[in-house]
Amino acid sequence: MESINFDKDTMVLVTGVAGFIGSNIADKCLRLGIHVRGIDNFSNGRKENIEDLMCNRNFEFIEGDICDYSLCNKICKNVDYVFHEAAWGSVPKSVKQPLDYTTNNILGMHNMLQASYANKVKVFIYASSASVYGDNTDKIKKVGFEGNLLSPYALSKKTDEELGKLYYNLYGFNTIGLRYFNVFGRKQNPYSEYSAVIPKFIKAILNGEEIVINGTGKQSRDFTYIDNVIEANLKACFAPEIAYGRAFNVAFGQSTSVNELYELLSTILQKETTVVYKSERKGDIKNSLADISETKSILKYNPKYSLKDGLIKTVEWYYENLKVIEHT
Ligand SMILES: NC(=O)c1ccc[n+]([C@@H]2O[C@H](COP(=O)([O-])OP(=O)(O)OC[C@H]3O[C@@H](n4cnc5c(N)ncnc54)[C@H](O)[C@@H]3O)[C@@H](O)[C@H]2O)c1
Repeated sequence: MESINFDKDTMVLVTGVAGFIGSNIADKCLRLGIHVRGIDNFSNGRKENIEDLMCNRNFEFIEGDICDYSLCNKICKNVDYVFHEAAWGSVPKSVKQPLDYTTNNILGMHNMLQASYANKVKVFIYASSASVYGDNTDKIKKVGFEGNLLSPYALSKKTDEELGKLYYNLYGFNTIGLRYFNVFGRKQNPYSEYSAVIPKFIKAILNGEEIVINGTGKQSRDFTYIDNVIEANLKACFAPEIAYGRAFNVAFGQSTSVNELYELLSTILQKETTVVYKSERKGDIKNSLADISETKSILKYNPKYSLKDGLIKTVEWYYENLKVIEHT
């Protein structure tokens, strides 16, 4: 990542800091020498993700819920930039518990947005998702060409984008939405029923467990390594005015099917396991490949890590850090 120059007195707030992406953003900001305040309610986050950050005197952690506005208002004091990552992920979970996604993902975002605006935050950068493309069948997903939404999760992210746009258009508040495409890397949880495909596959291959693929496995994704996502977030702090009120695709710009992903991982791990195909999951989008041209030209985003480079680094991290290895 090219050097990013924050003033040393800069204070950033990371919501969802005990989660996969939030903890990685916080870690990078601390390495850059700036102050980080983080909040998480541990609804999906893990204490292990912030253990190392807790030792840093530039890190302040608040355990709490962003659905509480007065708490949001308190934690936004003296903050320059917000990286809003706190939300519930998982399309299938949202299909089972639709109402929870309105409360947690939409109310939570609105609270954070209003509190950030009230406290004169310079730029509010928030996590959106490729799920907003819904049933759009274009080969390459371009901002402005979204289809019908397919899940309550997607609805929550689309609504978050509308909120972000409204706060810029109505109040002139600087917001930027980042539409992440299947992010993977260190600190991603492989243990949950709702874990993402890459940590699930790594754990299963290492442990010799059966892999379940929903559908034919020909569905494709633009898998994006965590360091590319961190870069997009940091660059967004210095984005030109033209970026505000808008959303940008954050991906590598390469399409890989789930079957190809399995092959690649079993080559890297030099191990195979049984693959079982089951029916498609409701709410999943079919294929996703991002057009990242605007993210490159406007945010100066320049992703360095391909899927293969990222997988090699991720596997190294799992070998060093996760209990899965003990079972192999
Ligand atoms: N991982 C991906 O591939 C991906 C793709 C698209 C979008 N996103 C979005 O990126 C963001 C981060 O995702 P992640 O993969 O790190 O997920 P994660 O579940 O690991 O992290 C989210 C964190 O937010 C916390 N949280 C949730 N609701 C909260 C609340 N009300 N108050 C306080 N904390 C709360 C959780 O405990 C968790 O630690 C989310 O908004 C997600 O929707 C992720």
